[in-house]
Amino acid sequence: MAVGIFDSGLGGLTVLDAVSKRLPDVPFVYYADSAHAPYGVRDADDVFSLTNAAVRHLWDAGCDLVILACNTASAAALRRMQEGGLPQGKRVLGVFVPLIEALTERQWGDNSPPREVSVKHVALFATPATVASRAFQRELAFRAIGVDVEAQACGGVVDAIEEGDEILAEALVRSHVDALKRKMLEPEAAILGCTHYPLMEETFQQALGPDVKVFSQADLVAESLADYLERHPGMLGKGGQSLFLTTGDARRVSDRATQFLRRKITFQSV
Ligand code: DGL
Repeated sequence: MAVGIFDSGLGGLTVLDAVSKRLPDVPFVYYADSAHAPYGVRDADDVFSLTNAAVRHLWDAGCDLVILACNTASAAALRRMQEGGLPQGKRVLGVFVPLIEALTERQWGDNSPPREVSVKHVALFATPATVASRAFQRELAFRAIGVDVEAQACGGVVDAIEEGDEILAEALVRSHVDALKRKMLEPEAAILGCTHYPLMEETFQQALGPDVKVFSQADLVAESLADYLERHPGMLGKGGQSLFLTTGDARRVSDRATQFLRRKITFQSV
């Protein structure tokens, strides 16, 4: 019974990399819905039904716990899946909460009422669907008061990354940071609210300048997963095997994944 990691495409490999380093003995099944990526330009119903199908597949592959490593899926589908009821013994977790807990300097799972925090001006970079959902602002409002969030929908960046066009991705990141800075003159913190963006973290940091603290999810998710598994050891069974599954062309996806992570990754088609 491995832990499932779901993303629309390759971006979640940033999360997979971090969780595998943090939890080297845990087998992970990574599922990339490459045939339907990008999710960020789809409407919420569409993202919900695609995410549902992917999570079911991961349950069938022997995972009791699935991490929606995709912010767009976490924003558009997680709450609806949880409210709709999950099969007995199955859990689905998203990636917003660990990030917001770090931003608001909370311990994992601290559900005390919202309070003032030191950071006041936050830039959020995410896909159009994540920005439209306002899920980040909603989760933040449960934990902090008086934080001004300016969101920038970063159209095109995910496609450029999935296509392996780093030059285009860099140019798009710079232009999205410029657009954000026209709306918020001095962000103190920036959230990379899409799993693909850590692959461009240096470009974000350069364009934002050294005074902006850039929060990237992968390590935060890894720490909170380690903490969760310690508190819920039953969600992790014995044995299992790490796998990479895709709804797309396995060879093409494997090549891109190998390029991103700079180690050999072999996907199988589902
Ligand atoms: N990587 C995903 C995210 O974190 C979505 C990218 C996409 O498919 O648009 O939002």
